[in-house]
Formats: sequence, C-alpha cells, structure tokens
Amino acid sequence: MSKNKLPGFATRAIHVGQEPDLESGAVSAPIHPTSTYVQQEIGKNKGYEYARVSNPTRTRLEENLAALEGGITSRVFASGMAAINAICTMFKSGDHVVCGNNLYGGVPRLFNEILSGYGIEFAYVDTSEVKNVERAIRKSTRMVYVETPTNPLMALSDIAAISEVCRRKKIDLVVDNTFMSPYFQQPIALGADLVVHSTTKFLNGHSDGLGGVVVCTKPAQVEQLGFVQKAAGAILSPFECWLVLRGVKTLAARMEQHDRNGRAVAEFLAKHRKVKKVFYPGLPDHPQYELARKQMSGFGAMISFETGSLSNANKMLRKVRVCSLGESLGGVETLISHPATMTHAAVGEKGRKEIGITDGMVRISVGIENVEDIIADLDQALAAI
Ligand SMILES: Cc1ncc(COP(=O)(O)O)c(C=O)c1O
Repeated sequence: MSKNKLPGFATRAIHVGQEPDLESGAVSAPIHPTSTYVQQEIGKNKGYEYARVSNPTRTRLEENLAALEGGITSRVFASGMAAINAICTMFKSGDHVVCGNNLYGGVPRLFNEILSGYGIEFAYVDTSEVKNVERAIRKSTRMVYVETPTNPLMALSDIAAISEVCRRKKIDLVVDNTFMSPYFQQPIALGADLVVHSTTKFLNGHSDGLGGVVVCTKPAQVEQLGFVQKAAGAILSPFECWLVLRGVKTLAARMEQHDRNGRAVAEFLAKHRKVKKVFYPGLPDHPQYELARKQMSGFGAMISFETGSLSNANKMLRKVRVCSLGESLGGVETLISHPATMTHAAVGEKGRKEIGITDGMVRISVGIENVEDIIADLDQALAAI
C-alpha cells in the first residue's frame, strides 16, 4: 500500500488489523482465546499481560474499526450498550448531557434508569434543529449525543453544524453511526469527537454476535476508555472480535447491496396503497433529503413505514416469510420489527407518542437477498391488512 495516499475503504476493511499471522502465514487473523500471557521476567512481556486489559485479536479489531471511521484507535466492548455506558463513565455527578429525543430505546433506559441515579443529568431535544441543541447546552454540559438517522423515525441531525456548536462550547459530540456504518457516513470527518456503534449490526453483518465500539479522536479518550475496559471489564471476547473482523471484510460490498435493495424497497412501499407513510432519507419527500445527500454517501437499508394500527401491523407481520420478524438490524437477512413493542417498548407509551412512534409503525432492515423476493414477500404480507 502506498505510504502517501490512504488506501480505499474496502482495502482498509480487508487489510488494516487483518495482516496475515506472522507465525503461520494464515490470511485469517488468529483468535487468541487466552486469559493470560507468559512473561519473560518481572515486568518483561510481549505487550500483553491479562486478557481483560488487552488481547491480540481485540487489538486487530480496534485498529481496523478506527481505520474505517478515521479515528486514532478504538475500544471495543461486549455490546453497543456497554460501549455507550463506557463513554458515560467519564462523567461525574452534576455533569449534563444533551441528547436526541429519538434514540434507540435502550439508550434512554440506561440514561434515565441507571445513570441519572448517579447524578448525571440528561436533556432530550429534537437534534434535527441545531438551535435546539445550542439552547439546551448549559455550563455543566459535557457531551452532545446524537443518532443520525434516528431509530426508527429516520430523522437526521446535521453533524457538521452540531460539531461547530460543540467546538465553540468546548464539549464533545458523540455520534452513534450504527445505522449508516462508516461506509456511508463519516462523523469524525464532519467534526465528531467520538463515534459509537453497536457492532452487532452492519459491522458484524451476519447476526451472529453482539458487540460495541467507541472510536476515539484523542489520546486521552483512548487512555480513559482503555482504563474502563480494564477496570469495569465489559470487553469483547476474542471470538466475537474475530466475528467482526470477518464481517467487516465484506462491509463495502454488503453496504452497496443493502443500499440498492433499500432504495428499491422504499420506492415500492411509497407507492403501496396500504402504506400510509414511509420514513427513508433516500426518498425526495423526506424533510431532510438534501442533508442526507450532503452528509451521507448512500441512503442505507433502514426504512420505517406506517400501517395505520397495531392490528394492521400484526396482520402483516404474521404473514412475512422472506423477512424475519425480530429485533436487531444490519444482518444479511431482512429483519422486520415493531418498534412500539420491541426496540422502543422501554420508552413508554407517552414517550413514543411525544416523538411520533405509533403502534402501526413497522421498521425494516433490508437485507441483501434478491430484492424482488423481499418486495414480493412484503406485497403478499401487506395484502393481509
Ligand atoms: C442505534 C443503536 N445503538 C445502540 C444499540 C445497542 O446495541 P447492542 O444491542 O449491541 O447493545 C442499538 C441496538 O439495537 C441500536 O440500534
């Protein structure tokens, strides 16, 4: 690889941290299932002492994911929630966080039901308007936390504009990039200070492991989050690190296909007479279509749509065959879910109503099967309404 020019995205995904094993030449990174490492003498070792602190398979993944997001390195955790929790352990009682009002339901559950008990305060605002973010910032605000596009309403936040506010106020902007993956959205290049992912989703891509990552832009963050790994211990196992290393090798190819299928399914749904509304940033009637085109290099595979009622949603969800009814997203298979009773049950009825998540809303993570099969399946399922 040239030293002057950064290799392309797919090349980085396949080669950074994925170098052949020095001992055997194996092209697939070895998995190091070990709890400890033999030391040569007191204080002399090969850079690894105990597996909670570090592991060679984990080091490979942390380098790889940082190279994809444009960070200096990353820290991986046992799940997306463990990664988000790790960021919050950098706060102390009295610190304040401004966050989006439509986050994955597990995030406000962590913030409201656990972290607020330690005196950390959270303000939820519609971050699709930059002025709302600026207004909510106080002297004690330490972080602005956004998901873009949001789950499941697919609202966008302008990362560059919010990062400009954060820079002025000297606070960190954290972006959850799970929905787009680094292939379609590069929050660090747009000014984010930390990027978080549930690697469970597109990065792994095969629905066979949980994981989370925080990509860092500053050495102090790397040190602090490394300390959280060591002190709190919610690290990703070597095998699950390997699953993500294996998954990201095809990230670029998978995302291209997810995007092609996503656009076709969104267009099909938008024209379907049983569908009342479609939420997808790639449709020209999405209120932030222009921002989507500017901020993302694809529209992705996440679509929500309105069936009109809980009973309609259930009638169609009972009928799907190619699409699998289940929580989660980002796998090669099309997953279909019901936010009100699944991902956003923890938000409560009142909370869902406030932000516009209805009982008739259905969310699809469009997979990479033949798109005509996905569309035919949705068509026959919608006929049940
Ligand atoms: C956008 C987003 N962030 C974070 C999470 C939490 O990740 P995990 O399930 O890996 O803990 C999820 C889970 O669905 C999610 O959708």
